[in-house]
Amino acid sequence: MERTFIMVKPDGVQRNLVGEIIRRFENKGFKLAGLKLMSVSQELAEKHYDSLKDKAFFPGLVKFICSSPVVAMVWEGDNVVVTSRQMIGATNPHAAAPGTIRGDFGVAVGRNLIHGSDAIETAQREIALWFSEAELVTWETTLNPWLYEL
Ligand code: RTP
Ligand code: MG
Repeated sequence: MERTFIMVKPDGVQRNLVGEIIRRFENKGFKLAGLKLMSVSQELAEKHYDSLKDKAFFPGLVKFICSSPVVAMVWEGDNVVVTSRQMIGATNPHAAAPGTIRGDFGVAVGRNLIHGSDAIETAQREIALWFSEAELVTWETTLNPWLYEL
């Protein structure tokens, strides 16, 4: 089953939106495979956003991700990478549609609350970066026949 990496950024944790965000992913029908509250080292933040290292906002972005705890998660489900990005909304909350997480709760691009992997390969890289194998849980939910045509 497809997996994606989702992170509630420092602003989302500080604004008490962790429960709201988890609720949306649970209600959608996705299954949690990993979850932890953690402080982020500069090294991890730089690796995570490595593809953006030439951008002017990179130092500020890394500093922000390290400024306060984040909640790192792995969610699992059919098409979870693309669907999660739709649930999260456009990068800039000004452009994010109402009903999306950024559209409903954000007002600034540098405080857009949540990260989601942008492709399946990116998800695999990010999951391996943020979680050890032992931290990821494979489990069966009895809901499967009610979520999927098996
Ligand atoms: P993310 O990786 O955090 O899920 O966000 P994203 O794919 O929607 O956007 P991306 O291009 O990967 O940018 C990563 C994060 O950098 C910050 N950003 N700031 N000041 C700016 O112009 C700017 N552009 C991007 C945002 O916090 C964005 O989520
Ligand atoms: Mg991105």
